[in-house]
Amino acid sequence: MTFEQWTRSVLERVETALEHYLPAETTEPAKLHEAMRYAVLGGGKRVRPLLCHAAGELTGARAECLDAAAAALEMIHVYSLVHDDMPCMDDDALRRGKPTVHVKYDEATALLVGDALQSQAFVALTSEVLAPAQQAALVRELALASGSIGMCGGQAIDLASVGHTLTRTQLETMHRMKTGALLRAAVRMGALAGEAPDANAMRSLDAYAAAVGLAFQVVDDILDVTTDSATLGKTAGKDAKDGKPTYVSIIGLDASRSLAAQLRSDAHAALAPFGARAQRLAELADLVVNRVS
Ligand code: IPE
Ligand code: IPE
Ligand code: MG
Ligand code: MG
Ligand code: MG
Repeated sequence: MTFEQWTRSVLERVETALEHYLPAETTEPAKLHEAMRYAVLGGGKRVRPLLCHAAGELTGARAECLDAAAAALEMIHVYSLVHDDMPCMDDDALRRGKPTVHVKYDEATALLVGDALQSQAFVALTSEVLAPAQQAALVRELALASGSIGMCGGQAIDLASVGHTLTRTQLETMHRMKTGALLRAAVRMGALAGEAPDANAMRSLDAYAAAVGLAFQVVDDILDVTTDSATLGKTAGKDAKDGKPTYVSIIGLDASRSLAAQLRSDAHAALAPFGARAQRLAELADLVVNRVS
């Protein structure tokens, strides 16, 4: 199977899983469920679900188990985007090529969409397709990655840093928390949904995920200055306009590109112990660094 064929088949599974784990539009309160589905379905690159499936294939996880974990990861991710776009945070009107949830609906709905997606993620993770011990392990991974020592903490640092310059170390910490943590969780959760990897294998996967997770936000910072809004599906040039500290603002565009390339080779190097079995993860590291949107 080529990477494109593999990606297409995983993306189909992920759409079906999201459709399954999201309440129907006709379920009351219909407006909230319609808005949740508007935010989640039919858009986005689905990078976290792809990483989860690729890691799970490496540990022999059942596809149904990976579907539940992937749906949970994407719901947390979309919740973070819906809140990130709200006027109290980045105040963005465009996401995935469509009006953001608070623009299409209203602010209170956007707040509730995020809240409800967060809860729904944990409903998916406690689905009976996963054994109870796996459910507990995955819930803990996702809760840690998305809470105050992960994504939310990173978002807090991001907001507190507007208009300030950060040291390179502070910037890296912020990026690892706000974006890297959930990408790392995607890899770990995929792996944990299969035969529990031994400590060495988990260390290798963690090193891979740390590199890919940081690379992802470095590339996001680069694309904000190099790509137009139509291609990105979100407002370009927003970081500089808002005075956000980014890799581009702190080390410059060329050094940011070199760093992304370095992190890509770090990710590849971390996969060496797995040999050809880690091909999909290696291809996903390339996708994260070479993407244009
Ligand atoms: C954007 O994430 C926000 C960040 C964490 C950098 P993605 O680039 O994965 O957004 P979608 O899911 O493809 O829309
Ligand atoms: C967002 O970072 C990270 C999260 C949503 C957790 P950004 O604010 O850079 O994401 P975009 O550029 O709006 O997608
Ligand atoms: Mg933001
Ligand atoms: Mg933003
Ligand atoms: Mg950004």
